[in-house]
Amino acid sequence: MTEPRLQTQGLSRHFGALKAVQNIDFALDAGARHALIGPNGAGKTTFINLLTGVLAPSQGRVLLSGRDITATGQAERVKLGVARTFQINRLFRGLSVLENVSMSVAERRGVASSMLSAIGRRSDVIADSMQLLETLKLADVASHRVSELPYGRQRLIELAITIGLKPNVLLLDEPAAGVPSAESHIILDAIDGLPKDIAVLIIEHDMDVVFRFAKRVTVMVGGAIFAEGTPREIEANPEVRAVYLGQAAQNPTHG
Ligand SMILES: Nc1ncnc2c1ncn2[C@@H]1O[C@H](COP(=O)(O)OP(=O)(O)OP(=O)(O)O)[C@@H](O)[C@H]1O
Ligand SMILES: [Mg+2]
Repeated sequence: MTEPRLQTQGLSRHFGALKAVQNIDFALDAGARHALIGPNGAGKTTFINLLTGVLAPSQGRVLLSGRDITATGQAERVKLGVARTFQINRLFRGLSVLENVSMSVAERRGVASSMLSAIGRRSDVIADSMQLLETLKLADVASHRVSELPYGRQRLIELAITIGLKPNVLLLDEPAAGVPSAESHIILDAIDGLPKDIAVLIIEHDMDVVFRFAKRVTVMVGGAIFAEGTPREIEANPEVRAVYLGQAAQNPTHG
């Protein structure tokens, strides 16, 4: 048996008395298309924060291809191939789209220590970045400042930056949240177009997106794993329907 690309063992995180993440055993294989769903406050973002090293666990371990990375810092995990997007976007708003994306491409190519102005003249970095922008239909706004663009496009840029790192594990925290539905298909198409081998975990409240994208679904409730299975199994699970899907159906835009 091959090692899971990313794995957690007994992973927990408490905030004072609040058990935000409780004793999670989870595995993400190479090529996984896995969705993490659950009500607001279930602990989904906290779980991703533990996977990426934004937060340290209270207990348990995180393994990357069998290697214990529990004590490894955020930046080092990115270098090891674990990339993520945030629920709320974090971009350099005063820089152009191309500048934002070329910084991550330069980082991956190991030339980020050059001055930013020098990165801007590296034709290999620019060519890679522009190609990425083409696939995400952002090439026409490459020279625009991020702050001038509508929110949907800003989220796409964030995805471009993350993909630009060429990760082998990609963690997406509600990548289409706040994006008008007319534009969200571009984000989904971009996710569909990712290299097959990347292990992808997506937090998503929109069940249409979950059922279109995921081969496997984990339901989190109250910090713990409540159910896991194929989209079909999850959809048919009466307990899941009771705690989550019924509520999501009544309030499809929440989150
Ligand atoms: N830094 C923190 N300090 C204290 N409590 C926190 C912290 N971060 C999260 N929490 C709490 O932990 C619980 C889980 O939060 P988390 O953001 O992980 O939920 P979520 O499943 O991502 O929810 P949503 O769907 O609303 O994004 C919540 O009760 C939240 O208030
Ligand atoms: Mg969240």
